[in-house]
Amino acid sequence: MFITVLKADGFKNLEDVMIRPHPKYNLITGLNAQGKTNLLESIWLMTGCKSFRGSKDRDNIKLDGERMDIGIRFDDGRREQSIEYKLSKENIKLKDLKVNGVPMKNTRGLFQRFKAVVFTPDDVQLIKGAPEKRRTFIDLCCCQLDHRCLNILRDYENVTEQRNNLLKLIAQGRQSINDLDIWDTQAAAIGSMLSEKREDYVKKLSEVCSKLYSSIAGKDEKLTIEYSSNVFGKEIPKGKDSKSAAAVYAFKLNSNINDDVRLGYTLYGAHRDDILIKINGLNIKDFGSQGQIKTAALVLKLGQAEIYYKKIEQAPVVLLDDVMGELDKNRQRLVLDIVKDMQVFITTCNEQSVTDMAAGSVFKISGGRVI
Ligand SMILES: Nc1ncnc2c1ncn2[C@@H]1O[C@H](COP(=O)(O)OP(=O)(O)OP(=O)(O)O)[C@@H](O)[C@H]1O
Ligand SMILES: [Mg+2]
Repeated sequence: MFITVLKADGFKNLEDVMIRPHPKYNLITGLNAQGKTNLLESIWLMTGCKSFRGSKDRDNIKLDGERMDIGIRFDDGRREQSIEYKLSKENIKLKDLKVNGVPMKNTRGLFQRFKAVVFTPDDVQLIKGAPEKRRTFIDLCCCQLDHRCLNILRDYENVTEQRNNLLKLIAQGRQSINDLDIWDTQAAAIGSMLSEKREDYVKKLSEVCSKLYSSIAGKDEKLTIEYSSNVFGKEIPKGKDSKSAAAVYAFKLNSNINDDVRLGYTLYGAHRDDILIKINGLNIKDFGSQGQIKTAALVLKLGQAEIYYKKIEQAPVVLLDDVMGELDKNRQRLVLDIVKDMQVFITTCNEQSVTDMAAGSVFKISGGRVI
């Protein structure tokens, strides 16, 4: 998958941007605060995902402007497709979105079309941050591979919310504890399904990332990624009937009902899952150096791209924000080698800091314009 044309106008500080990216390497250069990350962000919005910086729709439009107009043409290996996305401050709720010229209701439909993987310096939070960051990442990865995961996630959120509401009503004496049964059965069925999807993905990710990490950091450092659930521990049971994952999950919920009612909150479940990222058996979160943390975060994203590539035989577009300047030449070369079959956009303040880009295109950005 590669972008053939990218347009952005009125998106944050970008003005009249129209570039024809190289099918492989694209270097976006410029001084600080000129719009390099904004350019990557405009590409990311084409995946239908929320901004990786958490910007709201209104923040996407230029501060002193009225509208934004972004779009890409891309080759998905079979044909060229187009996405156009316009917003205006006047009616911010109205998303003027077209795929191949056909209007679409919302950005969710883009998720199936255009695939990208983004790495930003904030991704160190994947390692250092709260478990929620890692869950969200794994969930996004699972959904990219199998869009039915989106339904599982939505159902799980619903059932957990309903169960929590009921717990509060039980504590107030307005409902009976027996009313929980129906929600527990559902929470156990959906929760165990979600945990299984995540565990499955984490196994693949661990295998791929272990190789990638060693290729960048050397053979003495072995990276592993483990799924960790507060219901099942490290391993989801694969038995039948009362030993099935759903039965074990339901039993766990049932054994903690009194605590749950007291707190008005479901203590155990897939909403508390985590993944443990380790080097040579030690949790990087607690023991890793800055360099190990940064490299591990990058490797998670490169692993995501590789798994995706293997599954659909179409490489996602890779967006690397500010990563090269921090790596020595040798590691840069290894990273570029990993993404050599993919279209990649790399931002940097210092063009000289990125080597081996001779075969690609360089776009210099200043004051929101490509010059
Ligand atoms: N809605 C907006 N309207 C106008 N300008 C905006 C808007 N949102 C952000 N900006 C500006 O866009 C500019 C460029 O931001 P961006 O993060 O893309 O810079 P950058 O080139 O990646 O810089 P750095 O090298 O420091 O990472 C910033 O000055 C920021 O204030
Ligand atoms: Mg930036």
